[in-house]
Parts: sequence; C-alpha cells; structure tokens
Amino acid sequence: MKKIAIYTLALALCGGALYTAVAMEKAKDEAAQAAAEPKEPVVCFESRKGATEVTQRDIKPGWPNVKCSPTTGAALWYGDPFDGTVPMGKMPGLENLPEGHALVKPRSEKLAILPMCGTACHNGVGPSFSPPTLPKDKKPTAIPTMESLVPDLKDLQHGRGRIWCLDCHHTTKRDKLVDHFGDPISFDQPQLLCGKCHGDKLRDWRDGIHGKRIGEFASNGKKRWFTCTECHNPHNVQDGERNRGFVQLQPEPPPQLPNGMKDASHELVHPVAH
Ligand code: HEC
Ligand code: HEC
Ligand code: HEC
Repeated sequence: MKKIAIYTLALALCGGALYTAVAMEKAKDEAAQAAAEPKEPVVCFESRKGATEVTQRDIKPGWPNVKCSPTTGAALWYGDPFDGTVPMGKMPGLENLPEGHALVKPRSEKLAILPMCGTACHNGVGPSFSPPTLPKDKKPTAIPTMESLVPDLKDLQHGRGRIWCLDCHHTTKRDKLVDHFGDPISFDQPQLLCGKCHGDKLRDWRDGIHGKRIGEFASNGKKRWFTCTECHNPHNVQDGERNRGFVQLQPEPPPQLPNGMKDASHELVHPVAH
C-alpha cells in the first residue's frame, strides 16, 4: 500500500521531469538552472521505524514538511507540525482543552491490512467465515494465517504470555480495538486501548510526562500528540536487547559549534556554583 503511494509519487516526479525537458527546448538558458534531476523521494521515519514513515515534500517552494537525520533517517524538524493531523477525538481528562487543540496523525492509514480486516476476511459472510469463526475463549492459539501476514504475531511479545488478540481487538468488529466494556475503539485512538491496562502511562501521557507533543508552546496551545502506537509496536513491546521497550536509536552526532568556538568543554562546568 505504502509502496504503491511511493511509486505513484516517483511516477509523478518523472512526469514532471519530462515536462521540464520539453520546456528546456523552448527556453534553454533559464531552464538549465531549473532543470533539477528527478530525485528519489526521501522517506524518513517519525518515531517507529517501519511504522511511521513520512515522505519528504515541499509544503511551499523551499519549505519541506520534514527535515530528517542523514545518520538515522529520523524526522528531526517539522515545517508544519500539524501536517496530516486530525482532531484526537473524545479523550477523558482532556475535556478542558480548546476544541481542535489536540491533534493526532491517524494510524489507520498506515495499516496495510486494516482495510481488509472487517471486509475481506472477518466479515461473517465469506465461504470460510460463515458463520464467523469466533474463538470460544481468549486463550492463545496458533494462527498461522495471521502470523504470515504480521510476523510479530508469531511469538506475541506483549504481556509476557498473559494477554491475547481479543484483549485488544474487537471480537466481531475486526477493524476496531476494544475497551473494557466490549465497546469499539478506533485504531486512531490507541491511547484508549493502552490506557485500559496501563493507566499510569495514560495519565503521564495526558500530563505530557510520557510520549511526545509538538506544536504551540503554551500548555493549552495547539499541539500534535504522538499516540502510543506511533512509538510502541503493540505486538512486540519487549523488543531490544534489554527485553524491554525499544531497540535503541543510534545517537545523532553533536551539533556544529558556533563560529570561533573550539570545543564544548564549558558545558562540562555547571554555570551556577553549588
Ligand atoms: C496489546 C494489544 C494487542 C494485542 C494483544 C494484539 N493486537 Fe493486533 N493490533 C493492536 C494495535 C493497537 C494495532 C494497530 C497498530 C498500529 O497502529 O501500528 C494492531 C494491528 C493489528 C493488525 C493490523 C496490522 C496492519 O499492519 O495492518 C492485525 C492484522 C492484528 N493486529 C492482528 C492481531 C492478532 C492476530 C493478534 C493475536 C495473535 C493481535 N493482533 C494481538 C493491538 C493488539
Ligand atoms: C489487556 C491489557 C493490556 C493492554 C490493552 C495493553 N497492554 Fe501493554 N502490557 C500488558 C501487560 C500485562 C504487560 C506485561 C507487564 C510485565 O509483565 O512486566 C504489558 C507490557 C507492556 C510494555 C512493556 C513494559 C516492560 O517494562 O516490559 C509496554 C511498552 C506496553 N505494554 C505498552 C502498551 C501499549 C503501547 C499498549 C496499547 C497499544 C498496550 N500496552 C496495551 C497489558 C496490556
Ligand atoms: C514519543 C514516543 C512514545 C509515546 C507516544 C508513548 N511512549 Fe511509552 N515509552 C516510550 C519510551 C521511549 C519508553 C521507555 C522504553 C525503554 O525503557 O526502553 C516507554 C515506555 C513505556 C512503558 C514501559 C514503562 C516502564 O516502566 O518501563 C509503557 C507501559 C508505555 N511506555 C506505555 C505507553 C502508552 C500507554 C502510551 C500512550 C498513552 C505511550 N507509552 C506513548 C515512548 C513513547
């Protein structure tokens, strides 16, 4: 899905180059400057490699949507922090925020399989699914079909063996997540799902202690909130060598020193005596 989008973009860029070539015939000198080689699209990631890719493009000439690290490929700077965001939706505890001030990037458009979940497969009518083959309980069972689609499901690394698919996914509405009452939750509001078991993290996230927000500085200003699944892979939260959390990111090189400064040794000394 994402690939198709990238190819279409590449195709569009090639089309643009052809047009430039024709124009060059007409106005040679001017066009010589403008005729930029068709560039490979720059794709960087925002917080979770493989899950939060963003393609660099110009919002206006010379003003990119993101600037990315040449070292790690991570998005480092945003031309518009609200680019591609939608309102977060109802969120208990955030009722006092002015409307439209809490924004998120929807997850659903990043999920390649999701559009098929409730239609092609678990739709209750297909030949192999009529009546829907609902599991009798929530206990772990091998699901080879799903494992081949999402390799992380092979050895579900979440909850250390104590939770399974339908603790998070809705039993009958497979394109939804599920809350403690059995009501559906949108994939774009994963915080409501994660928060049902990780209440402390949800509270920290709401208070701005856990996770990340970008945008206006004021506490009730307009901000993009990074949702839980933008950073955490729900099917493998025990990744990394420490068997806990993340594969660690490569640190960025230190920034360039200001003109005339030889080293940053002054930073090793606390400016206030104590
Ligand atoms: C801890 C909660 C949790 C558990 C347990 C869980 N999932 Fe998920 N699953 C999610 C969330 C949240 C997403 C959306 C991820 C995102 O936004 O990147 C998701 C996404 C998916 C997707 C869509 C992937 C895509 O790329 O389109 C499939 C398929 C899926 N899960 C199947 C399963 C199966 C099968 C199991 C059991 C073996 C399972 N999940 C267990 C929370 C969970
Ligand atoms: C049904 C309950 C449940 C849901 C829903 C749930 N988790 Fe968990 N999660 C657990 C349990 C249980 C553990 C294991 C804790 C342990 O054994 O240390 C865990 C572990 C984790 C860990 C690893 C903590 C560690 O120190 O190893 C992370 C990170 C995590 N969950 C994030 C999430 C995120 C993000 C979501 C939403 C996509 C989510 N969880 C949804 C129950 C849940
Ligand atoms: C901007 C990225 C980001 C977002 C958004 C985010 N987290 Fe985390 N989370 C982290 C990092 C980084 C850690 C530390 C992981 C480690 O120690 O390796 C962490 C740790 C955790 C842990 C394990 C805590 C522990 O005690 O070790 C849980 C549980 C968790 N997050 C849940 C959530 C939930 C629930 C949400 C959404 C409400 C969320 N996170 C949103 C980055 C994020």
